[in-house]
Amino acid sequence: MSEPLVDLLSRRIPGQSLDRPFYTDADIYQQDLETIWYREWLFAIPAAQLTKTGAYVQMTIGIYNIVLVRGADGEIRGFHNSCRHRGSVLCKARDGVVAKLVCPYHQWTYDLDGKLMWARDMGPDFDPSKHNLHPVHTRNLAGLIYICLAKDAPDFEEFAKLAHPYLEVHDLSNAKVAYSSSIIENGNWKLVWENNRECYHCAGTHPALCRSFPLDPDVVGVAADGSVPPRLQAHYDRCEAAGAPSQFAMAGYAGQYRLARMPLQENALSYTMDGKAAVTKPLGRVTLPDAGTLLKFHYPTTWNHFLPDHSLTFRVIPIGPMQTEVTTFWLVNKDAVEGVDYDMKRLTEVWIATNDEDREIVEGNQWGINSPAYTPGPYSPLQEDGVEQFVDWYVKTMLRNLGPQAVAAE
Ligand code: FES
Ligand SMILES: [Fe+2]
Repeated sequence: MSEPLVDLLSRRIPGQSLDRPFYTDADIYQQDLETIWYREWLFAIPAAQLTKTGAYVQMTIGIYNIVLVRGADGEIRGFHNSCRHRGSVLCKARDGVVAKLVCPYHQWTYDLDGKLMWARDMGPDFDPSKHNLHPVHTRNLAGLIYICLAKDAPDFEEFAKLAHPYLEVHDLSNAKVAYSSSIIENGNWKLVWENNRECYHCAGTHPALCRSFPLDPDVVGVAADGSVPPRLQAHYDRCEAAGAPSQFAMAGYAGQYRLARMPLQENALSYTMDGKAAVTKPLGRVTLPDAGTLLKFHYPTTWNHFLPDHSLTFRVIPIGPMQTEVTTFWLVNKDAVEGVDYDMKRLTEVWIATNDEDREIVEGNQWGINSPAYTPGPYSPLQEDGVEQFVDWYVKTMLRNLGPQAVAAE
């Protein structure tokens, strides 16, 4: 079944965009889901989305529907949104707050930790403890909730150990969601990522972002070999001396994740139109106002920006071969008051505009690739090594996860 895909993956020419079927083909999309999305750790939500006991939110990944719920003990747990009686969906609403999880069909009632508490007329031999909700692997990494749909999840600890000190100073457990947006981009999920991993397009596309985000690869670029320009190293050192972990770090299989605190434009402190801070009551303990933005990505679901005044999480979820949902959360200090400590428009306008601009170029990219005349084209060695790194991760991870036969062909 995977033979043709393995061949296609193995034939990939480094330094070029992928062959057309990777962006258009329904079977390859299905393989992406099964080989990556149903197996790897996925960023789900910021913990701050579920503040109260019993608060829940649904999430769909391919054929799976899960519900994340905050328990009475404060833990956020994930469950498959399917009753252990005859399988009805449990939570129909996208989100809400409940005392217990009650199935709408015959009212089997589950505690917030997934235990079956009550089931009517099931007879004397019925053992409720054998009918708890099917759990989904869930981890809370410094206020970021990750899930894994696999029966046996891959290791999470190596990533958590590396990322925790970087994230911890941003105090996401004391955040609140100031704003969130979900947009649909009519493009394959890999095109969304490829676009994210370069700023070759930024000058021509993102007038608002370019007010604060620097474009010069000599300022913000880390070479493919991991070498760091001196000005960037000086920035890392200054932030670290002030207690904010910042050094460039990339790890995981084929570079699945990366962290680095990058400077913004000179005189810019945050992603605002005037470059000034967006929130006067900061989120976290990064005391240097010009520490820039901690960039984190973790394939395949998330890139993030953590600033001294607020934080942003982005989540990528494929919803079809040529359709992807991108969800953004703007997180601020939970004690910050709208209209006093921040203005919603100032806080959100740069990334609302940037997301929409990216949507348009991703859709244009998909549109062009849909033509049979499309052939893979070369990456800029100065500007697109991040795209190459993503594609390389994708190809290697697919080959590894497809099994020994595929790895042998690698
Ligand atoms: S299917 Fe849920 S109670 Fe019957
Ligand atoms: Fe962009």
